[in-house]
Amino acid sequence: MTININELTAFAETFSKSFAANLVAEQEKHNLAQRNAAVSYVPTKNKPTKTIVNAIELFKNIDRKPSAELQLMVNTWKIKPVGIPAIIEDYYFRADLVQDITNFLLSSVDYGFWMIGLHGTGKTSIAEQVAARFGISCFSETCSERTEFLDLFGYSVPCSGGNMKYIKGGLYSALEQGGICILNEVDAMSPSELIKLNELLSGKPVFIPQTESWLYPSKDFRLMITSNTNGCGDDSRYIGTNQLNAAFKDRFMKVYVDYLPEDIEVSLLQSVFEQKVNKNNPKFTSIHKKQYLALIKMMVKVANGLRKAANTMGGDMTPPSIRALKRWLQLILDGSHTAGMNGTQAAFLKAYGYDLSESERIAAIEVCKEHFGTDF
Ligand SMILES: Nc1ncnc2c1ncn2[C@@H]1O[C@H](COP(=O)(O)OP(=O)(O)OP(=O)(O)O)[C@@H](O)[C@H]1O
Ligand SMILES: [Mg+2]
Repeated sequence: MTININELTAFAETFSKSFAANLVAEQEKHNLAQRNAAVSYVPTKNKPTKTIVNAIELFKNIDRKPSAELQLMVNTWKIKPVGIPAIIEDYYFRADLVQDITNFLLSSVDYGFWMIGLHGTGKTSIAEQVAARFGISCFSETCSERTEFLDLFGYSVPCSGGNMKYIKGGLYSALEQGGICILNEVDAMSPSELIKLNELLSGKPVFIPQTESWLYPSKDFRLMITSNTNGCGDDSRYIGTNQLNAAFKDRFMKVYVDYLPEDIEVSLLQSVFEQKVNKNNPKFTSIHKKQYLALIKMMVKVANGLRKAANTMGGDMTPPSIRALKRWLQLILDGSHTAGMNGTQAAFLKAYGYDLSESERIAAIEVCKEHFGTDF
């Protein structure tokens, strides 16, 4: 049998071409399916059932119990839409804040809700947790100096065939379906871009060029913003924050969110402890539990000492957030270790202390020693 090299080569070429072409086509199909799955989110057609619940039932962990007669209407869903945050069962509510947010959600308002407070004091999470209890959507976006007004509504992304598809963002979804949009770190965004939100806050529609249509705010749309500064542009701790436009600031009610009271922060850390420790381990005794509770109480005292110091010193010192405090305990429980120091100190530095300048860190360790003793 004679082998026709040319024919074989030609065949191999066609084969490999069609093989390659098939591969490309298959890959395209796969990509398209994936892209469609990712971008074809359609607001739920489910309708919630309106249920009346007792406020005491709704906000179980709260510093001041609501009146026993207070009843609130909430949405209950058979299948929860994606925008509704998951409930954190042991979340602690501050009654004053809950009341302000609830009033804001339930009344018809022509202003936004601005939560100002140091990092990690619970601004974003309280809005999400109130929304979770009410069964309403809460879309969170984080702003930066590069965020432009139209970015808040959505993005155009390339699709197969050279087409573009418009993906709705949090603000668009909340405007369209109703629900909360939280713009986090709003003071990082350019003030001149932010003022474009002014008309929207008065209930006026906004033109979205990518969809070539006007978007009318749902009556259930609520805008919440959070920031670490009050938009005066004078807090050197928060790099990249701006002085905000007075007319923009004027369109919001403002609340200051502080750290949690000491006993609540202790309970919160106890929950972290309960979740992390395997109480079925026979080596774990009630003595350990008592010791950890004492440790937790001391950690909160240290955190409050450092917060007070950061406050009185003014300057640039970063106070420890609730987040850092939780992480400190988590690292202790994980047995995080660094040669030459005890576990509590190693965890303290990894969770928070290494953020500080050297002189601040030395001062912070002194504060720890005052509470934990010189062994710290
Ligand atoms: N009341 C609370 N109950 C339980 N956990 C809380 C509470 N407040 C805050 N936390 C926890 O503390 C951490 C920080 O909260 P959150 O993200 O809401 O703070 P933030 O003020 O928005 O911070 P940032 O300014 O850095 O955005 C989260 O892990 C959150 O779950
Ligand atoms: Mg936040």
